[in-house]
Amino acid sequence: MNYKAVNIITGENQLKKGSIVSYPNRGNYGNANYSGNCTGEIIKDLLTFYKPTKFVECFSGSGTGMDVAKALGITNSVHLDLNNGFDLLKDEIPTGFDFCFSHPPYWDIIKYANHQYQTTEDIQKSDISQIDSYEEFITKLNNINLKIYNSLLNNGRHAILIGDVKKKGKYYSTFKDLEFYGDIESHVIKVQHNTSSSKKNYSNYNFIPIAHEHLIILRKRSIWQLPVTVVEKVNKSIKESLLISWRELLQASLQHLGGTATLNEIYCLIHDSTKAQKNQYWKEKVRQTLQIHNNFESVERGVWKLSIA
Ligand SMILES: C[S@@+](CC[C@H](N)C(=O)[O-])C[C@H]1O[C@@H](n2cnc3c(N)ncnc32)[C@H](O)[C@@H]1O
Repeated sequence: MNYKAVNIITGENQLKKGSIVSYPNRGNYGNANYSGNCTGEIIKDLLTFYKPTKFVECFSGSGTGMDVAKALGITNSVHLDLNNGFDLLKDEIPTGFDFCFSHPPYWDIIKYANHQYQTTEDIQKSDISQIDSYEEFITKLNNINLKIYNSLLNNGRHAILIGDVKKKGKYYSTFKDLEFYGDIESHVIKVQHNTSSSKKNYSNYNFIPIAHEHLIILRKRSIWQLPVTVVEKVNKSIKESLLISWRELLQASLQHLGGTATLNEIYCLIHDSTKAQKNQYWKEKVRQTLQIHNNFESVERGVWKLSIA
């Protein structure tokens, strides 16, 4: 890759300074009117930091990466998007590259095919931003990321820029839910600018607007091994936990019972808990805990209340 034009670009590389980056100006790359476009500055910083031999961009959108490549004098890069006829779900990514930058849709927050550009119905079906189910979106994006990993040269890197989503009051953490293939080499937080949420006034809402994205740098360090980071979601039972304290168990019990309860109601509720099962004097332990902690208040003999002082 030819980096002869690097010095025409001014500005310091933010990745040299640390893992929080902020680019208030998107630079003169790509098309600012293409919704969900990213700043070319981050791609420029990545390319000048890692200096790969061959750069492939997946989900290239409005051509931001291509414009950066041109500005850096790079002539052998490849830029793949449904809008230029490349379907990352079906088509084979060209092999022989040591760096991939990808910027997938933030689930269905912005729809692309036949919204940002006109295309056939068939192509629209491959657009992962039009998948209604979040779980299916994650599965399809995992498949694409695995494809990127497989086509990457050993020692190469995949830098993926992703955003979490808040929808109908629920937080969807793409960062937590995606599988990561290869070693996580860096996790950079990118401050978001000019988002539609930043222009709204959320003073009546009780959630924190999302104002950052995640840039994860994954490194392929083995030709044959596939290290996968998977986050497993399990629902554990508090009652079956041995790590819970008596105080926490009783707080949960009183909350469950509406704030005030008789000792008998508490006994009934927790008699099958692991803590009670493991202690033959568990009823005594319940009474002692209620008496010694100031977040429990005696209402009358045998009746206890949760006190939030
Ligand atoms: C967040 S945008 C990328 C924006 C880009 N970084 C820019 O600055 O313009 C996501 C892109 O994913 C593309 N896309 C969605 N599904 C795809 C698929 N199956 N194959 C290839 N591209 C896809 C969309 O066409 C859209 O351009």
